[in-house]
Amino acid sequence: MASSYSLQLFITSLFLIISISIGQPSFRPDALILPVRKDASTLQYVTVINQRTPLVPVNLVVHLGGQFLWVDCESNYVSSSYRAVRCRSAQCSLAGSTSCGDCFNGPRPGCNNNTCGVFPDNPFSRTATSGELAEDVVSVQSTDGSNPGPVVTVPRFIFSCAPTFLLSGLASGATGLAGLGRARIGFPSQFASAFSFRRKFAVCLSSSTSSNGVIIFGDGPYRFLPGIDASATLRFTPLFINPVSTAGTFTQGERSTEYFIRVNTIRINNNPITINNTLLAIDNQGNGGTKISTVNSYTLLETSIYRAFSSAYIREAASRNISRVAGIAPFDVCFSSENVGSTRVGPAVPYIDLVLQGQDAVWTITGSNSMVQVNDNVLCLGFLDGGLNPRTSIVIGGYQFEDNLLQFDLAASRLGFSSTLLGRQTTCANFNFTSNV
Ligand SMILES: *[C@@H]1O[C@H](CO)[C@@H](O)[C@H](O)[C@H]1NC(C)=O
Ligand SMILES: *[C@@H]1O[C@H](CO)[C@@H](O)[C@H](O)[C@H]1NC(C)=O
Ligand SMILES: *[C@@H]1O[C@H](CO)[C@@H](O)[C@H](O)[C@H]1NC(C)=O
Ligand SMILES: *[C@@H]1O[C@H](CO)[C@@H](O)[C@H](O)[C@H]1NC(C)=O
Repeated sequence: MASSYSLQLFITSLFLIISISIGQPSFRPDALILPVRKDASTLQYVTVINQRTPLVPVNLVVHLGGQFLWVDCESNYVSSSYRAVRCRSAQCSLAGSTSCGDCFNGPRPGCNNNTCGVFPDNPFSRTATSGELAEDVVSVQSTDGSNPGPVVTVPRFIFSCAPTFLLSGLASGATGLAGLGRARIGFPSQFASAFSFRRKFAVCLSSSTSSNGVIIFGDGPYRFLPGIDASATLRFTPLFINPVSTAGTFTQGERSTEYFIRVNTIRINNNPITINNTLLAIDNQGNGGTKISTVNSYTLLETSIYRAFSSAYIREAASRNISRVAGIAPFDVCFSSENVGSTRVGPAVPYIDLVLQGQDAVWTITGSNSMVQVNDNVLCLGFLDGGLNPRTSIVIGGYQFEDNLLQFDLAASRLGFSSTLLGRQTTCANFNFTSNV
C-alpha cells in the first residue's frame, strides 16, 4: 500500500509541477548579475537595474555596506506598479522601521499618507534624510555563472524613495544608491529570498573605466574569460558585525550593515609593521576595526597606522632603488617610476600582505592594487591618512580590490577573497556579457 500511495503522490506532484509550469512559465535562476562601471570623474562604481512599469533603466552608485536601495522619486518617477509601504506592515518591520508618516503635497511616489519611513543616506556627501518605504517591480538578468541568461523579475522589490537633493555628490546620471549591505532589505537578502538561493554575492570591480566589472548574487561558479572560475581558489576570513550602525542616521541599538573583517597584521615585503592592536578590534562603541567599502576610492589608515605603513613602504622601496618624489594630491607617498619594472600583477613594487583572521587568510596586494600611475614618471601609493580617531581604523577602498573577486557569504558570515586575478590571467572586465539566450 505504501508504494502505491507514494506513486500517487508522485503523480500528483508531477501534475502540480506541470500545471504550474503551464500556468506561469517560471524560471528559477541560480544567480543574478549586474554590470558595474567605474565612473571616470568620481571613481564611483555605478550599476544599472530595470525598475517600474513600464521598466526603465536606473543608474545606481554601488554602496557595498549600504542598507537598501534608494532612488530619487521626486523627479521623473513614473510607474503604475509603485506601492507605498503601509505603517506597521510586514515590509515595514522587515526594514526595521518604527516610523510612520503623512505627506501633504501628494499623493505621488515618495509622498503618501500612513506610510512607513526609513532614512536613506548618501555617504559621499554625508547627507541623510527621511524617505517613504515603497515597493516596485525590479528586473535583472540571471546567469549560469558564465553568461547572462533570462531576465527575471521581482514584482515587489522594497526600496526607499528619496528627494532629488540627496543625489548631490553621486556620479553623473545616477539617480540612487544600491545598498548591498547585510540589512534584511539589502539587495543580497531580497534577491536571495525572491529566488530561494543562499545569501551570498560576489563583487568583481573592473579597474578600467571603459569595460564593466560585475556583481553576481548567488553562488559560484563565477567564470571569467578564458573560462576561469574565480570562485575556485578563494581564501576565507570571518565577517564581523559592528554592533553600532555606521549609517548617517540610525536608532539606538541598530547594528551596522557594513562588512567588517579582522586585520591582524600588515606586512610589507614580508616584514610586519607595528600597529597598536587596540585599533584593529571593534570596541563596544563600534569604533575601530576594518571594513571594506566602495564609498572610498583608496584605503584609509588611521594616522599612526598610516605613518608606520608608509615609512616601512618607503624603506622597502628604497632597498629596491625606487626613489621617492614629491607627493601629488591626494597622495603623499609617490615614487619615480624609473627603476620600477612591470609585471603581470602591476608595477614591480614591494607586496603588501593583509594578514586576516583565519588559516591562510593572507590577502596579497600587488603593484596593480597598491600603485596609482598619476603620470608617465610617477607612481603613488594608493593609501591615504584616515586621520586621528576615525570611526573605523582601516577602510579598504575600491582601488585595492579592483580585479579581485570578493565573495560575501551572509549566511556563513565569511568573506572569500581571491587576491588579484591578474596573476590568473584574467580580470574583472572579462565576464562574458553576451547573453546565451
Ligand atoms: C494626508 O492627509 C491629510 C489630512 O489628513 C491631507 O490633507 C493630505 O492631502 C493627505 N495627503 C495625501 C498624500 O494623501
Ligand atoms: C592604542 O590605541 C588606543 C585607542 O586609540 C589608545 O587608547 C591607546 O593609548 C593606544 N596605545 C598606545 C600604546 O599608543
Ligand atoms: C641599487 O643601485 C645601486 C647603485 O646604483 C646598485 O649597486 C644596486 O645593485 C642596486 N640595487 C638593486 C636592488 O637594484
Ligand atoms: C561569449 O559568450 C557567447 C555566448 O555564449 C559566445 O558565443 C562567445 O563565443 C563568448 N565569447 C568568448 C570570447 O568566448
